[in-house]
Amino acid sequence: MIYEKLMRPLVFSRWNDPEDAHEFVMRNLERIQRRPLAMAALEVMGRVREPSLERELMGLRFPNPIGLAGGFDKNAHCIRGWEALGFGFAEIGTVTWRAQTGNPRPRVFRYASDKAIINRFGFNNDGAQAVAERLAADTAPRRMVLGVSLGKSKVTPLDEAVDDYLQSLRALYPHGDYFAINVSSPNTPGLRELQDKAALDELLAALDEEAKALERKHPTPATRLRKPILVKIAPDLDPQALDELLQVCVRRNVDGLIATNTTLSRDGLDAETTETGGLSGSPLFPRSLAIVRHIRRQLPEMPIIGVGGIMTPDNAIQMLEAGADLLQIYTGLIFQGPLFARELNKALLQQPQREQAETHIEATP
Ligand code: FNR
Repeated sequence: MIYEKLMRPLVFSRWNDPEDAHEFVMRNLERIQRRPLAMAALEVMGRVREPSLERELMGLRFPNPIGLAGGFDKNAHCIRGWEALGFGFAEIGTVTWRAQTGNPRPRVFRYASDKAIINRFGFNNDGAQAVAERLAADTAPRRMVLGVSLGKSKVTPLDEAVDDYLQSLRALYPHGDYFAINVSSPNTPGLRELQDKAALDELLAALDEEAKALERKHPTPATRLRKPILVKIAPDLDPQALDELLQVCVRRNVDGLIATNTTLSRDGLDAETTETGGLSGSPLFPRSLAIVRHIRRQLPEMPIIGVGGIMTPDNAIQMLEAGADLLQIYTGLIFQGPLFARELNKALLQQPQREQAETHIEATP
């Protein structure tokens, strides 16, 4: 409420370019991380400790099912901050093998009345080695799960993509708990072609093999063959392409799916705009929900992270009911504020009570 009424108007109006606001938030969160008292205060406000929120999935223990989606903390600057803000997991990146600056600014656009964002960042990041060094420097035990999102460097031709992903995996393998293979960003030319059957098959087979070899080199006590590999998919696949993708993922031992990335569609966006890039936030929700529901129907056992347009506790509950095991947020965090993860967790805690109350009402003549 305070965020919506006071802080959001301030943050939204102070900078013309939403990327400046994002950088301001990240700089301050990083500063807070270095001050134990400020961190303690953030924890008091943000964290929700409740055993009933814990989830066991893919051999990992998530303290709660709410995660930070890929792209918010591309270079892993604020991991302790996300923990303090009540996230059960955070996915850093997307990281590419080569450091890259991304597309020219402005490259992110906010549509407040639609609760939506269009971005065409193009994987600006410090590169896999620099991010690995940053993660290696933070040796304290983590209380949340850390995912690492991997993408293809822009300068790498599509037919050399496999090697590019493998290089990043090698650099980052010791530092992440799971790896999200991003083949669905609309902002790297040709990237989505890696969702095609043959290309995806080759990529996933190589990653599976490499991860097993890396696990032998850097064994993790609780891990069996290798750390989990997930595939993040686009919401714009037609039903046949989606089903083919699912078959490849099963064949190549993918541990989970992240559905979905941003969309190229402008359905549900009332604002007039010609900006190119991926749309996220409220207009994406019906699409991401339908995709999660479809995957769950096709693959009853597959772990699914539902993401795309979760802007309210009700959206979160619907996404879980559609079959997601875990959730991620990005645009919701921008519109609802830094305590949004906590708000969602609190709502999930009320959920069994709500179900019980509904059952009770139904059972009462
Ligand atoms: C993203 N997203 C994203 N995803 C990813 O896997 N790697 C990335 O680098 C990025 N970058 C990125 C930047 C910006 C500005 C936005 C808004 C989004 C996609 C994101 O993780 C998520 O899948 C979608 O935004 C849908 O979720 P929301 O935002 O509707 O909750």
